[in-house]
Amino acid sequence: MLNPDCISFIRQVVDKAATSIGPVADAEILPREAYVSQQFFEFEKHAIFAREWLCIGHVNEVPNPGDYLPLTILEEPILLLRDDAGTVRVLSSICQHRGHPIVGGLVEHAPGTPCLHGARLVCPYHNWTYGLDGRLIGAPGMEDTTPVSELRKHIRLPEIRSEIFHGLVFINFDSDAKPLAPRLVKLDREFATYPVEQLIPAHVFVAKDLHWNWKLHHENALEPYHTDYVHKGYHNAVPSQLTRFCDYEDGDGQVMRSTGFLIEDGDLFETKGRRLPEVEGLTQEQRSRVMFVSIMPNVVAVVQPSFVAMTLINPNSAGVMEWRRVNLYPKAAIEFPDFETISREMYDRQRVIIMQDQVTQIALQSAYQSRYTPRGKLAKLESAIPQLNQWVVEKYRRALAELPA
Ligand code: FES
Ligand SMILES: [Fe+2]
Repeated sequence: MLNPDCISFIRQVVDKAATSIGPVADAEILPREAYVSQQFFEFEKHAIFAREWLCIGHVNEVPNPGDYLPLTILEEPILLLRDDAGTVRVLSSICQHRGHPIVGGLVEHAPGTPCLHGARLVCPYHNWTYGLDGRLIGAPGMEDTTPVSELRKHIRLPEIRSEIFHGLVFINFDSDAKPLAPRLVKLDREFATYPVEQLIPAHVFVAKDLHWNWKLHHENALEPYHTDYVHKGYHNAVPSQLTRFCDYEDGDGQVMRSTGFLIEDGDLFETKGRRLPEVEGLTQEQRSRVMFVSIMPNVVAVVQPSFVAMTLINPNSAGVMEWRRVNLYPKAAIEFPDFETISREMYDRQRVIIMQDQVTQIALQSAYQSRYTPRGKLAKLESAIPQLNQWVVEKYRRALAELPA
């Protein structure tokens, strides 16, 4: 619960953020407290993460009935699963007996590894058993208190509201939230000729303990100002001057920019001229550039003709986050004889860029503790930053308006 002093501090930060939106020539970066203050992060959890749509994965991470993938987001253990009827659902992983997680303790799943499979969900603590729709099926040894026939009437693993957008699974902890799709009209247009829902996750990577604020992750991904310097020699395929920013309107859920390939049929993670089959059905324009997309607040997707690299952000605190990176490929690429070798080479290339970004983000986050942190002016190549700011400021203001004056 936010106390009055805390609310007053939040108001000051949000008031200062008013100069962080608008035309790029006028906008400044957000006040540093928005990146480093734990109080402010607690406010963001309430204002954003408890009520906005959060992407947890792709439907093809649970391709078959009975597949279930344990995940944790905002400290909530959840299960992304496909039930007997083939419907993708998201359930809480918290057993409704005494709260042990369905996966955890004696039943382990290493993050980043393929999903588990079973006809039932069984709690490892006292063996309460649930169906894939979440309904309680069995509860041994309960005859003398509350027999299972009684428990079955109302006990189930809580289902979390979900929406699937082009194969991407989003959840919302707020049952009153407005639907997601109407906020993603621009991305819907992009995906109309890019069959993301058919892609297959082939490489999933998890990184924890990343010492930077979740908003910095979006800013860094969406601004190509740094790429010619930080990624010198590694980003030549998509030079920053070939960037085009997309418009952002009030209520939009996505911020996007595209950067063209220097040569025809380029690839951001090019490897010695060896190529995987591309996604089919793309427009000529889609084949000529990479689209960088932030689906606020927790997705950064790099959409290029060969594959989609999707980073799902899970913030832990003001200064620490983790991510799950899901690389999605077309089936033809996965079936390609040299897929493992070429995709690994591409990932090694991608990893260099990731590490270069990590070094700068850690340094930046640490430096934001400084009393000399500027409200910096922005370059044209940073045009997406005021757009990202606008998205967060809209949410901050909405939440503040609901708090006591
Ligand atoms: S806590 Fe799950 S069966 Fe007891
Ligand atoms: Fe970068």
